[in-house]
Amino acid sequence: MIDNISDTPTASPFCELKPERFNIEPFTMVIFGGTGDLSRRKLLPTLYHLCHDQNLPDEYSIIAFASSTRTDEEYRDLVKESVEKFDEGPFHEACWENFSRHLFYVSGNFDDVESYKKLSGRIEEIARPASGGKREVIYYLAVPPHFLPDIFERLSFCKLCSGRFEARLIVEKPFGHDRASAAALNGLIAKTFEERQIYRIDHYLGKETVQNLLFFRFANSIFEPLWNRRYIDHVQITVAESIGIENRARFYEKAGVVRDIVQNHMMQLLALIAMEPPIGFEADHIRNEKVKVYRTIRGMDGAYIDKYAVRGQYGAGSINGMDVSGYRNEKDIAPDSRTPTFFAGKFFIDNWRWADVPFYLRTGKRMKKRVTEISIHFKQPPLRLFKSICEIREPNLLVLGVQPHEEIVLHIGVKHPGIGNQLYPVNMGFNYEKDLQGEVHFPLPYERLLLDCMKGDQTLFARQDGIEAMWAIVDPIIERWDNTDAPEFPNYVSGSWGPDDADRLLEEDGRQWRIA
Ligand code: BG6
Repeated sequence: MIDNISDTPTASPFCELKPERFNIEPFTMVIFGGTGDLSRRKLLPTLYHLCHDQNLPDEYSIIAFASSTRTDEEYRDLVKESVEKFDEGPFHEACWENFSRHLFYVSGNFDDVESYKKLSGRIEEIARPASGGKREVIYYLAVPPHFLPDIFERLSFCKLCSGRFEARLIVEKPFGHDRASAAALNGLIAKTFEERQIYRIDHYLGKETVQNLLFFRFANSIFEPLWNRRYIDHVQITVAESIGIENRARFYEKAGVVRDIVQNHMMQLLALIAMEPPIGFEADHIRNEKVKVYRTIRGMDGAYIDKYAVRGQYGAGSINGMDVSGYRNEKDIAPDSRTPTFFAGKFFIDNWRWADVPFYLRTGKRMKKRVTEISIHFKQPPLRLFKSICEIREPNLLVLGVQPHEEIVLHIGVKHPGIGNQLYPVNMGFNYEKDLQGEVHFPLPYERLLLDCMKGDQTLFARQDGIEAMWAIVDPIIERWDNTDAPEFPNYVSGSWGPDDADRLLEEDGRQWRIA
């Protein structure tokens, strides 16, 4: 296949790329669980990175709140270690000196009122008021979900979110474990925080290429007229991971693939592809449209789920030449575990734009390689003019690569040069890395999301009704699978593309997975 039919595009010569700067008010971020895995691997290296790129204001403080006893100095040592280990760029001593002065530590228990009083005193002592006179405090809850009720209650009781404090709250997933628990959690938060203060994080929305889905669809006029049931045959979304569950057995045994990936990351991708044009780029305009998509996804009963949803669990196999063990042999996993690590399913969105267009979703651990991709499969031309002479009949296809290849590729058919009449498939493409190399910086998801929270922009965060609507879609699947016999697990080999039933799901419709 010919790769590109013309030179790859570069940034327009008329368009000067200037780094964007934002005016961020002085703030204090309190990280609950500031010594935990997420903090050490992601949050603290990201904050350091933001400091290095001069995206933080002169005045800010980061206070870790966790149970172990340590001094500020000891905490700084721990953060330094994490930054050196997990930040992808080179370590800069001068930048570190600057950053570390902003780090503090408070030891305390999440259920102990006295600890919150201590925290409150420390914030008063350290934090500088923003221009409005209040102290802007961002509470980042990087803790397992069972701590959340205690934390909300104590924050409210100790007046850490009102009066002298202007608070925002960042909550990590999982947000509840079904619709009812998510609604209960939302109700609990609502006692202390207004919706405008709540940032429910989904790191997928921080990915450049995921944000680009909106730009691609609504900043160009050529695709939107085709973006409907008249021209689109079906859509495929694949989120394949080659890693297993790593050391998250306790979490994963309870969660499984549907709670871990489908309810959040995949539903976000689906909504960005399927939503109607928002009336503006403000957070609520976009979130309104996404919620409408969730509410129009066809409800699933037991018979539908048995027919159109496929579960799988990985067995031993080999990935990139390395032997890996099966799920049931992972550390701390029950030898007869029924937890699914693979999901494939057919969804319909019952509205005017998408009626009867299937959306095939597939995700799994320990698959052949790491790839996240959306492919839009257009219908065949109405008349097959070239039917009799052409062996390759590939309909137009638009591939939106999220990772590892961040690209947009349009597959089209052209005449192969020569005296014959051969139709030939070629690609027209834009690749972020190749085409903009050196000209732009790719922020990591957390960089973008933390900055947005500091700026007070909720566009890339889930709203309460969105979260509950996403749960309402997947709850019946989880329930059905909990209450019916699983297929013989393991039913796919590590390093494959999942169980055979996932292939059959498409074959029965005369289609196949693009990546297979
Ligand atoms: C997380 C899931 O939300 O996303 C993990 O809990 C998964 O199980 C991860 O591995 C995938 O994220 P990414 O950015 O590596 O695709």
